[in-house]
Amino acid sequence: PVLVVDFGAQYAQLIARRVREAHVYSELVPHSMSVEQMLAMDPKAIILSGGPASVYVDGAPSIDPAIFTAGVPVLGICYGFQVMAHELGGKVDKAALGEYGKTVAVIDTPAGILQDSPSEQSVWMSHGVAVKEAPDGFAVLAHTAGAPVAAMQDPSRKLYGVQWHPEVRNTPLGQDLIFRFLHECAGLEADWDASNIIEDQVAKIRKAVGNHAVICGLSGGVDSAVAAALVHRAVGDQLTCVFVDHGLLRKGEVEQVKHDFVQATGIKLMAVDASEDFLTALKGVSEPERKRKIIGEKFIRTFEKAAREVVAQAGEQGQDVRFLVQGTLYPDVVESGGGDGAANIKSHHNVGGLPDDLNFELVEPLRLLFKDEVRAIGSELGLPDEIVWRQPFPGPGLGIRIIGDITRERLDLLREADAIAREELNRAGLDREIWQCPVVLLADVHSVGVQGDERTYGSPIVLRPVSSEDAMTADWSRLPYDVLAHISTRITNECSGINRVVLDVTSKPPATIEWE
Ligand code: XMP
Repeated sequence: PVLVVDFGAQYAQLIARRVREAHVYSELVPHSMSVEQMLAMDPKAIILSGGPASVYVDGAPSIDPAIFTAGVPVLGICYGFQVMAHELGGKVDKAALGEYGKTVAVIDTPAGILQDSPSEQSVWMSHGVAVKEAPDGFAVLAHTAGAPVAAMQDPSRKLYGVQWHPEVRNTPLGQDLIFRFLHECAGLEADWDASNIIEDQVAKIRKAVGNHAVICGLSGGVDSAVAAALVHRAVGDQLTCVFVDHGLLRKGEVEQVKHDFVQATGIKLMAVDASEDFLTALKGVSEPERKRKIIGEKFIRTFEKAAREVVAQAGEQGQDVRFLVQGTLYPDVVESGGGDGAANIKSHHNVGGLPDDLNFELVEPLRLLFKDEVRAIGSELGLPDEIVWRQPFPGPGLGIRIIGDITRERLDLLREADAIAREELNRAGLDREIWQCPVVLLADVHSVGVQGDERTYGSPIVLRPVSSEDAMTADWSRLPYDVLAHISTRITNECSGINRVVLDVTSKPPATIEWE
């Protein structure tokens, strides 16, 4: 792999993703990992990420300089670049001018990682410390007002460094720099793609599962669907999926799973309609955390019951159900400090968590993948676009999009409004552009309206379209007014009881994406 050494900023994951986008496999490792351990992973190249610290304060994270003489190509980014310069004898000091945000970089020598660059680039900076002099043997490629050495390289030692952040979209030519480092400077092949990943995973799953039976809980979301499709490709009818309908799903969702998914994959499905049970338990509950707890708990019990049934059925056919498929993704693994082996597995789930005493071994075929890779694999496996490009939807479903207590009438109303918003965003070709668009019913709020000369006293619907790369932070999407107007008109016309549509224009932070 290409190792991305995390110096503790939020940029490391992004770097790892950009490397994969350049079709090279990457893994994240903490900077505390020893150089011997890193080299034991047989890295094809190493990228040192940015970090919050400054290299000349006590206790600043560093790295054993042996990394720079191991013969492995290294790219230092931001803090990682300063560490490289510092360790190799360059001069790193407080910048005369801190640069935060959009900055102009002057490219003095368009070579190596900056081959064919225009003489000026708009780049994204975040530094108060600068490399004042490059270490011996390095050529300075670029400078900015605050960074006399903004990019440098020593191709004979395969060492490269850049002060700005090539991994963020705000550096328009950043991916070009990463691409050149990987393919031209480090000479790596572009072999990380959906069909290779599938082939590799299918072989691994077959080996792990053998002849045993497997179950998978489907949430209706893309992750569990792709995980199931992958396992099905590997072991066919040894897999049974369990889908719990908790009554908090969106319009058409049950049919989509029952019909489209099964049709596309041929997977055995056990669908459980538990909506009555869930809605009874949720009666009169409006506090968000209580709702989540009830939904989570009910979900587990329902799933357990269904799983036992699958196990019993499999037993009659002489098969032992030993494995449970989970759609855990790489960011979950990284965030739970894992990455190397079963001991670190945190049980990820969509609702509330599955109990430990379910006693299955986990199959997590997506645990090294990012969301965009999961989507690419889903398409390659033949899943329909409606599943592959589904926007994220929370496990507790519409239950946390009704502000107030949950009733069937309110759910039906919200389902209608949500379906209209989704239909119109899809029609406008915007649904892949935005990350997701929660539609929220403020059930306990009433305002006065007028419709057909009549006074109305109805509830508002909130549209919450957001743009995001990972849901950790988000911005509200600047949707075209015409599209918003059309959604608003249709919702107020078609959803009786709704007399106002409002737009949420808050980023995350300070708000969250969902309202509860
Ligand atoms: P927030 O509201 O925390 O949401 O900004 C971040 C992302 O997570 C989704 N979300 C959930 N997903 N179970 C889930 O599976 C949950 O309980 C849950 N709560 C929020 C949300 O839709 C967004 O994509």
